[in-house]
Amino acid sequence: MNPSKRNKVFKEKEKVKKIFVMGDINHEVFVYNQLKKHNIKTAHLMDVSNETITMSTISGETLLDVYIHHEQQEKDMQEYFVLWYDYMEKFYKALPTMIFDDVNFSNFIVSNNEIIAVDFENVRIGNQQEDIATFICYGLFYDPVLTVYKKQQLSTFFKKYYKETTTKALWKQYLDTALANLNIRRNKQYEVDWSFLFD
Ligand SMILES: Nc1ncnc2c1ncn2[C@@H]1O[C@H](COP(=O)(O)OP(=O)(O)O)[C@@H](O)[C@H]1O
Ligand SMILES: [Mg+2]
Repeated sequence: MNPSKRNKVFKEKEKVKKIFVMGDINHEVFVYNQLKKHNIKTAHLMDVSNETITMSTISGETLLDVYIHHEQQEKDMQEYFVLWYDYMEKFYKALPTMIFDDVNFSNFIVSNNEIIAVDFENVRIGNQQEDIATFICYGLFYDPVLTVYKKQQLSTFFKKYYKETTTKALWKQYLDTALANLNIRRNKQYEVDWSFLFD
């Protein structure tokens, strides 16, 4: 059993049951169907009824587990971040104008050298920069927060793929908004000097 915060999620070897407590099941099913139409890998929906999605289990570790282990072993994360980038590019093509929103690293499963996402409840209209800024904030604030390792790994990734895609001033706005959202979620008052992403 693996109870999660917003819904009840029961993970077994072959299938996962997600019972919707707060979220909109129809919205999540819509996104699953859209991704399937575009041949983008995600869990296969086996049944949808009684506010419950039964789906196939994607085998593998979450990106969060990989990240935590890599930090402990001081190993480079770039190959996994690139897999995340590749998945997100496909996602944005399949759902134009939409963003993932809840890019918590635990919603991405590293499976056979690719990354596969689950949990599409929060998918909404938005700017891709919001997802990137949210991803960086999640990445910085897993325990232990704001380590040199986390800043280095995330800035290397950001500089290579995203830095030049918009102005520094606009990036800082997206990052501050993402940080404000994280502070609300965690009831904290973290502050970050974003210059490590731009130097
Ligand atoms: N089909 C799946 N295969 C493997 N792991 C899954 C699957 N669905 C969910 N999980 C794992 O269970 C966690 C909780 O499920 P999720 O859909 O994210 O629920 P919540 O909306 O409550 O966050 C996910 O972050 C993921 O790690
Ligand atoms: Mg989730």
